[in-house]
Amino acid sequence: MLELPSTVTRSSDTLESLTICNRHARARIFLQGAHVLSFRPVGEGEVLWSSVRSQFSPGKPIRGGIPICFPWFGAGSSPAHPAHGFARTTSFECVRAEDSADGATHLRFRLVDSEATRALWPHPFAASVDITVGATLVIAFTIANTGDAPFSFEEALHTYFDVADARRVSVAGLEDAPFLDKVAGGATPTSAPGPIRFEAETDRVYNATTASTRIDDPDLVRSIVIEKEASNSTVVWNPWVAKAARMPDFGDDEWPGMVCVESANAGADRLTLQPGESHKLVLRVGVRR
Ligand code: BG6
Repeated sequence: MLELPSTVTRSSDTLESLTICNRHARARIFLQGAHVLSFRPVGEGEVLWSSVRSQFSPGKPIRGGIPICFPWFGAGSSPAHPAHGFARTTSFECVRAEDSADGATHLRFRLVDSEATRALWPHPFAASVDITVGATLVIAFTIANTGDAPFSFEEALHTYFDVADARRVSVAGLEDAPFLDKVAGGATPTSAPGPIRFEAETDRVYNATTASTRIDDPDLVRSIVIEKEASNSTVVWNPWVAKAARMPDFGDDEWPGMVCVESANAGADRLTLQPGESHKLVLRVGVRR
């Protein structure tokens, strides 16, 4: 078993997780899905939202934090193919945990194809998730094609952010960018001026954008800054009243407390890797006052 630095504590409830507590921040990461559930920089409130109704049981998606969607985004192609892929419900192995001189903690999680993954998606791959818990949270998600044929895939770091009231926050950075409005059927791109505001169910896929975004939260008097590399899609989601009520693992009254701004390569931005090639998507999340 991997030796852990004193900043990392293992806990084995129904789902195994690691709690990181260093001089910059506190975070909790589940082995299932290499899933960051919580990130709280020192002196700040919680940055990631999670539902009090979330399940924490093997093979069930966790509602909140940062689920990793791979190798597809959205609905599966059959009932056997779970929404957002199998990565978020598959256990990763922690292969690295160490502190650096600046006090940040670095962890690496690995997943390779198995009989179970090949039954859903017939490709050999190696996935690694490198997470740095410092004043900023950094996640690098790397996929390598370890087989002898090309494959295509979609991916997302499906980040749920904690906000005081979704109706009062705005998301800057995607002004005038075209998006597919999934609430309206998502067929033809549309656009909207100004920062994004949440006034109804919102489910937008922005393609061909590498822009950084910022969630401005007047009530918490903070902005969350979201920077990304090698991610061409951004998905913005809030389920609002009716969809929240339909989701069993999402409290009916919880929707004002979150917005998702997801760093992805999805839809028109799906990726193809030749044998031996790899791709690394990087997300950086920080708080600004
Ligand atoms: C978002 C999608 O990324 O994830 C939404 O755009 C979807 O359409 C949401 O409802 C949550 O998905 P899930 O599978 O976690 O319920």
